[in-house]
Amino acid sequence: MNHLECAHILWKQVVQPGDTLVDATCGNGHDTFFLSKLQPARLYAIDIQSTALEATRKRLELSEVHLIQGCHSHFPKEIAPETVKLIVYNLGYLPGGNKSITTCSNTSLESIQKALSLILPGGLISITCYPGHEEGAKEEELLLKFAAELDKELWCVTHQRWINRRKAPSLLLLQKISRQTEPHNRESDG
Ligand SMILES: C[S@@+](CC[C@H](N)C(=O)[O-])C[C@H]1O[C@@H](n2cnc3c(N)ncnc32)[C@H](O)[C@@H]1O
Repeated sequence: MNHLECAHILWKQVVQPGDTLVDATCGNGHDTFFLSKLQPARLYAIDIQSTALEATRKRLELSEVHLIQGCHSHFPKEIAPETVKLIVYNLGYLPGGNKSITTCSNTSLESIQKALSLILPGGLISITCYPGHEEGAKEEELLLKFAAELDKELWCVTHQRWINRRKAPSLLLLQKISRQTEPHNRESDG
C-alpha cells in the first residue's frame, strides 16, 4: 500500500456524509475529487496557482466545490473554529507544473497551526510530505518537530514512513482527540 492508498483508507474512516472538508493543496484535483465522493456538505479546495484551480474545476465537473486561489496560510473567514472534519495537505509542487512553485516550510507550518483550531474533535489533519527534494526535506523536518510537541491530551499524532524506500513520501497524521474518548496511551506513557 502506498501513501495515497493509506491516506484514502483513513479519510474514508473519519469522514461522514454532511461533513465540511478542506483540501489545502488541491493541485490537479485528484484528492479533491476523492473527497467530493465522500458526500461532504461543504468542500473547500485551496491552491496558490490558477492553473491548479482550473485543473481541479475540470476534474470535478458537476460537484459543488468552493475553489479558492491563494496561500493556505489564510483559510476562508467563513470557516468557524471546530467545524471541519478533515483537512488534507499534499505538499510539494504541482505534478507536470512549475517545480519552483512548491509549498514552503514556514507557510505550511503557519497553515497547519491555524488548521488545529478549525478541526472538530475526532477530525483529522492529513499531511503528505515529500522529503525527496530539498525544500520538502526541510518542510518535513520542521513539521515533525512541531507535531511531536503537540499536547498528547488533545492530539493523537502519528507519522507513517515507508522505511525500505529511500526518500519516499511520508504521511503525518494529526487527529484531534474527541472529548468522549480517553487518550489510548494515558496509562502507558507516563
Ligand atoms: C503535490 S501538489 C498537490 C496535488 C493535489 N493534491 C492533487 O491531488 O493533484 C502541491 C500543490 O500545492 C500548491 N501550493 C504550493 N504552495 C502553496 C501555498 N502556499 N498555498 C496553497 N497551495 C500551495 C502547488 O501549487 C501545488 O499545486
